[in-house]
Amino acid sequence: MGMTRRDFMRGGVALGGLVAVSQLPAFADDPSLFSERGRWERLSIGYQHINAGASKPFTILHISDTHLTAVYPHESEWTRKFMERRSKTFGGRQEEALRDSLTWAKEHVDYVIHTGDLIDAQSEANFDLVKKYYGMGGSMMFGSLGNHEFLHGQGKKDQCDAEKAVSLPRLKEAYPFDLSIASTVVNGVNFVTLDNVYNTVTAHQASRFEEEIKKGLPVILCMHCPIDTPHINRAANRYWKRKDLKVVEDVSRWTERKRDATTADFIAYLRAQPLLKGILCGHLHFDVQDRFSPTAMEYLVGGNFLFHGQEITFS
Ligand SMILES: [Fe+2]
Repeated sequence: MGMTRRDFMRGGVALGGLVAVSQLPAFADDPSLFSERGRWERLSIGYQHINAGASKPFTILHISDTHLTAVYPHESEWTRKFMERRSKTFGGRQEEALRDSLTWAKEHVDYVIHTGDLIDAQSEANFDLVKKYYGMGGSMMFGSLGNHEFLHGQGKKDQCDAEKAVSLPRLKEAYPFDLSIASTVVNGVNFVTLDNVYNTVTAHQASRFEEEIKKGLPVILCMHCPIDTPHINRAANRYWKRKDLKVVEDVSRWTERKRDATTADFIAYLRAQPLLKGILCGHLHFDVQDRFSPTAMEYLVGGNFLFHGQEITFS
């Protein structure tokens, strides 16, 4: 699907109503929070540039991992208790962070890409927020799912494609894009968004991606989980394992994790693909970049629950 400047303006106009109709909890916009700072200064924005070969320069805001924890009083006990606990984990201001990010984006960039974990788990209230914010983003906003989009409190939670099928009807109803793989062309650059939330892709996704490559356009691959590289792997160990932090791991003998054949073949294909110009992902909750292939850098963005995102300019 192609987008024009006019589509973007429509999206922007829709976003204009965002603050007025937002139903935020009472603690929203606590004036004591960063009270001496300017309107946007509680947002933490990183900057990147990708020379992709666009027909005309443009900008995006890339956000990920908002981890919304909304729940209605009538929802199940598991859902209410889980959201109460996880709201503390993520600071309780995730909707404010998302709203500020999107309001800022309306004034500063052309498009918004969200690479998943917009919600921390499934709830009616969270799905209402998903519809509201994707609805307000309009054609300005697109994205991919994260592993937390599939999290629910019923039955076993094996991280596999069979388990995903339980959640797909609800997710399809809430998210306005093809959940498996989708393409959005902006000024001659093809943004391919796909679901790799358990670090796997399917044969269907791999063949659909090859179809996208056949369009002959530069491709930016957007998905939740990063493909590990030596430096990303080292950063993940340092951030999440929290041990021996003064020891800097030597990654010279790093080897890629074991993968199923379909996913391994897909990654090998990506590495050799000169039209791939960048990978945008999240999941790990910190910023890091590393070279993925001769033509593509991989850019991880940290958690949006911390009022964070990265602006990427394209030429
Ligand atoms: Fe994640």
